[in-house]
Amino acid sequence: MRITVFGTGYVGLVTGTCLADAGHEVMCMDIDGEKVARLKRGEIPIYEPGLEALVTENVAQERLRFTTDPAEAVAFGTLQFIAVGTPPDEDGSADLQYVLAVAKTIGEHMEDYRVVIDKSTVPVGTADRVQAAIAESLSKRGADIAFDVCSNPEFLKEGAAIEDFTHGARIVVGTDSRRVESLMRECYAPYNRRAEKLMFMDVRSAELTKYAANAMLATKISFMNEIANLAERLGADIEQVRRGIGSDPRIGYHFIYPGCGYGGSCFPKDVQALARTASQIGYEAQLLNAVESVNDRQKTTLFTKLNQAFDGDLKGKTVAVWGLAFKPNTDDMREAPSRALMEALWEVGARVRAYDPEAMEECARLYGERQDLELVDARDDTLEGADALVICTEWKSFRTADFKQIATTLKTPVIVDGRNLFDPAMVREAGLLYFAVGRGDSL
Ligand code: UGA
Repeated sequence: MRITVFGTGYVGLVTGTCLADAGHEVMCMDIDGEKVARLKRGEIPIYEPGLEALVTENVAQERLRFTTDPAEAVAFGTLQFIAVGTPPDEDGSADLQYVLAVAKTIGEHMEDYRVVIDKSTVPVGTADRVQAAIAESLSKRGADIAFDVCSNPEFLKEGAAIEDFTHGARIVVGTDSRRVESLMRECYAPYNRRAEKLMFMDVRSAELTKYAANAMLATKISFMNEIANLAERLGADIEQVRRGIGSDPRIGYHFIYPGCGYGGSCFPKDVQALARTASQIGYEAQLLNAVESVNDRQKTTLFTKLNQAFDGDLKGKTVAVWGLAFKPNTDDMREAPSRALMEALWEVGARVRAYDPEAMEECARLYGERQDLELVDARDDTLEGADALVICTEWKSFRTADFKQIATTLKTPVIVDGRNLFDPAMVREAGLLYFAVGRGDSL
């Protein structure tokens, strides 16, 4: 099958590459010429395990190609995936300008039947707007060409995107057209062999499924963070509570890890956008609003704990920070709890010595040259001259921390652990003061 993917960001690149790897002929289109030139050379603009090798191989096999030419892109595939960004507007709703610009482009150039597929996360009702934008472009040209618009949301986790694409739990397709159904079956056939994963539904339900999934997961996290905050004030240990509730199959162990708040490009944006959609139709989404505000508060927990440990006197202190990315196995720092922490520290005149296995470049890009930020090449080097240590991301390599060394190197023996990585007794045995999330005396 010939497939076009608009947008070579995270979702577009993974989608295009995996579909090419499955044997389809794929053309990825992006308006950013420099990015396309880099991709043609096999250079990947994002950190995603396994992606670079897959791109290189499929480019070499000539199943995957890149272009900046919209006419060529529209002429190429019967299937036209839209996988461009939908950044939040000022009021939190999804900004659809890039999605609608692609729709317009498709309408301007198409000469034959096309299936236009919304892959980007877009609010309920967007397929109708894409339909209208294409129809308008066609009518301006006086052209009468058939097309369909369908919704096919992505469920990719950063750091596990290829696995999620190739072995995901489900493939949701929103359409009321038989023709689209059979073309989408053909598209996903390589990934639908062992079990029936394709779920066909109406367009609006597919659009809402995407938001509902992320909102549900975000709700689980905020719920656990709320219980953790209670546990800490009640002298209970959230890690024991987590095991206690997770053993009930109706609750389960997944996604109930308390911490310093969820970040990333999806949960914060999608929860907010769904709440905004609700208010636009006159419904107050009380639970979603609470999920968001619990998370906003949780992101301040690292600073609050550290500030308490230092009796409100952090001015002039140096804080070692382990982990900058919003979660392990990515270099993404969008909405990362580390940012809330560092910005609060700078606000009160403290300095930061930070290390992350992947996100150092990203951090330098975001914060540039600052006197009060030092990016250090090795985990333990952050401790030199530092007053305390704060852990923001649960990278595996942080679990092997040497507590004795930490205790002797830090000026004050304080660890604030936003991810509950350690057994508190072991840390305290080394003479450290240990403040985790929701664990008895961690306030
Ligand atoms: C999320 C969803 O998990 C994907 O299914 C979805 O496709 C994607 O958003 C999207 O909409 O594109 P992602 O943002 O990559 O994926 O990250 P997650 O692994 O889900 O983690 C999100 C945040 O929740 C992280 O900050 C993580 O530390 C936090 N988290 C996760 C917790 O605090 N506790 C948990 O138990 C799990």
